[in-house]
Amino acid sequence: MNAIELSGVTWRYEHAKEPALVDVDLAIPEGEFVLVIGPNEAGKTTLVSAIKGLIPNSITGVLKGDVLVFGERVESIKPPVLAKQIGFVFADPESQFTALTVEEEIVFGLENVGWPRETIGKRVEWAARITGVEDLLDKPPYDISGGQKQRVAIASVIAMQPRILILDEPTAMIDPLGKDLVVRICAELKNDHDMTIVVVEHNIEAFAPLADKVVMVNEGRVERVAPPREIFRDLDYLLARDVHPPQVSQVFGRLRERGLYRGELPLSDEEGFASWRTLPEGAAR
Ligand SMILES: Nc1ncnc2c1ncn2[C@@H]1O[C@H](COP(=O)(O)OP(=O)(O)OP(=O)(O)O)[C@@H](O)[C@H]1O
Ligand SMILES: [Mg+2]
Repeated sequence: MNAIELSGVTWRYEHAKEPALVDVDLAIPEGEFVLVIGPNEAGKTTLVSAIKGLIPNSITGVLKGDVLVFGERVESIKPPVLAKQIGFVFADPESQFTALTVEEEIVFGLENVGWPRETIGKRVEWAARITGVEDLLDKPPYDISGGQKQRVAIASVIAMQPRILILDEPTAMIDPLGKDLVVRICAELKNDHDMTIVVVEHNIEAFAPLADKVVMVNEGRVERVAPPREIFRDLDYLLARDVHPPQVSQVFGRLRERGLYRGELPLSDEEGFASWRTLPEGAAR
């Protein structure tokens, strides 16, 4: 079953001259990990806002086409039901905070949908463990590092155990160590839970190895949908759109141009090491 399905979706923000989404068709099966890429202003945030139903429910504009979440039109799903189905994490974690302690922050959404005390306790424990924020539960969410804030924001969203988790540039505003931890959380959620995960990211290096499928958005259109290996094969296409494939893919792409490498472009450092061993003696050493 498709967790998410868009067909013929065109969306124009009120007062905008051009539509921000143009005739988008996209199907995301349940359990997939999807990486959404594209240049600035391409329409990536608009696309995930449509999936979350913020478009058209909370943002004004003109929508054509259908957005289905587990087969139901998103605008007709009741807010408490939708809150359990889709979790949304923004680039700026503070924009999400409402409570005085980290624990209250994680509990907030759970209480809102009326879970019993015991379930809430278990969910908080689970979400805090996965995100590594157990030691921060008593702290004010404003008084911790940027990376910690992002992990708290993720904890409060996954505590609801949404069937779909959307993260819009979750590593954009945090330090390198914090970025790695967020990537690791996403990897754990992908491996151990059957969540459908949609990540919008410029940090392709880190997320490409996790993705089942990559969605390339450009000028409001979904231009390509393919497995990462297929998308990142075409370096010139991506660079022309200001999208930077993993460094290791680019290095082997250059070797390929010079006729020194014929295999698939590696996506991760590990794959790069393996490909390195296949190079002819003296190729790049
Ligand atoms: N609330 C809004 N009202 C009017 N226009 C908007 C609004 N939000 C976004 N836009 C416009 O819609 C287009 C797509 O924006 P969007 O934020 O979806 O792009 P993006 O791919 O997420 O970009 P970025 O990488 O910078 O986050 C842009 O031209 C943007 O200016
Ligand atoms: Mg955006």
